[in-house]
Amino acid sequence: LPGIPPGPLKNNGTKLVYDWLHPFLPPGPLDIRGPCPGLNTLANHGHLPRNGIATPAQIINAVMEGFNMEVGTARFVTYAAFVVDGNPITDLLSIGRKSILTGVLPEPAIVGGLNTHGVFEGDASTTRLDAYFGDNFSLNDDLWNQYIEYSNRLGDGYYNLTVAQELRHRRNTQSIAENPEFDFTSPRYFTAFAESTFPYVFFIDGRVPIGPGGLGVGRGLHVSNATSFFKDNRFPKDFWRPPTPSVPTGIVQVFTAHPIPPGRNQGAVNTYTPDPTSGSFTNFCALYYNFLNITLNRLYPNPTGILRRNLAINLRYLYENLPSLPGQTDTCTELFPYGQP
Ligand code: HEM
Ligand code: MG
Repeated sequence: LPGIPPGPLKNNGTKLVYDWLHPFLPPGPLDIRGPCPGLNTLANHGHLPRNGIATPAQIINAVMEGFNMEVGTARFVTYAAFVVDGNPITDLLSIGRKSILTGVLPEPAIVGGLNTHGVFEGDASTTRLDAYFGDNFSLNDDLWNQYIEYSNRLGDGYYNLTVAQELRHRRNTQSIAENPEFDFTSPRYFTAFAESTFPYVFFIDGRVPIGPGGLGVGRGLHVSNATSFFKDNRFPKDFWRPPTPSVPTGIVQVFTAHPIPPGRNQGAVNTYTPDPTSGSFTNFCALYYNFLNITLNRLYPNPTGILRRNLAINLRYLYENLPSLPGQTDTCTELFPYGQP
């Protein structure tokens, strides 16, 4: 059976997470790392298995323990990634490339790990190239320089809400102008805005006072600590996790600074065309419906036996942890493409 989703932290305040039990060790030649600087860092400190292969429960525990991610957010993101990138039979996920270590493939699913393009990982990442240009998981030097330039110019050396707003807009504009296959529909549409908040939500030391609104204003992420996380996938020396269980605060503000509808380029640059069927900030449940009816259906059109049962169980865990957006009044209807769990 799939593991049970962990509950919230018992002691949920700030604390030293770069402690003697969690030394930094760079990944060995066979250890897997991927597009997420948060998970890469947790693996480099042994908060996650150092080989980069983990169960959903291990990931949820690690992001709560290491970064004080709020339990519902941790579960939602983890199960969303797991059902498309992980192995539902063995309950294992690679945080990077496809690996034999996650077990035998339930075809036609990919079980390709977090690097897999287009099911969870997607375009216009802050520091990673679009898959169209090749490597969609390593830190890209030009994009990293752009991150630093924006932090210096707009945040006085710090990444905060203002920098997040402008850099998100810049990355969207870049992909529209450069990637003929740019796809900015859900789920990527949401993860892009969420990820723009992560550096000022999760990478700032928990002993630094929270700024007005908790939006990283006056509490930005200094370039030196950002370098530690993004370049070395390493906690800064003596790092304490955030002071309270944390969610992607400011996601709507990042969106509203430069609103863009979900959509895609049509095989040529500068042909961005909205897709009104995609999940969006005004049609949130379509994120969940399309994820199951389109993305997941492509991977698992007709599962049977244990595979089908485990998919149904994991989808229940996903549904139970669906977030709601500020101002959202409707609740999404639970779907059962693989039967009741
Ligand atoms: C990006 C997975 C938690 C920080 C990503 C991406 C994936 C991912 C697949 C690549 C998406 C893309 O850019 O195309 C996950 C999963 C998590 C998780 C499954 C489980 C809860 C976290 C946490 C943090 C974090 C706790 C911060 C401590 C980031 C950042 C990016 C990112 C900053 C953007 C990287 C960039 O493009 O520059 N994550 N993540 N993630 N993640 Fe995570
Ligand atoms: Mg990406």
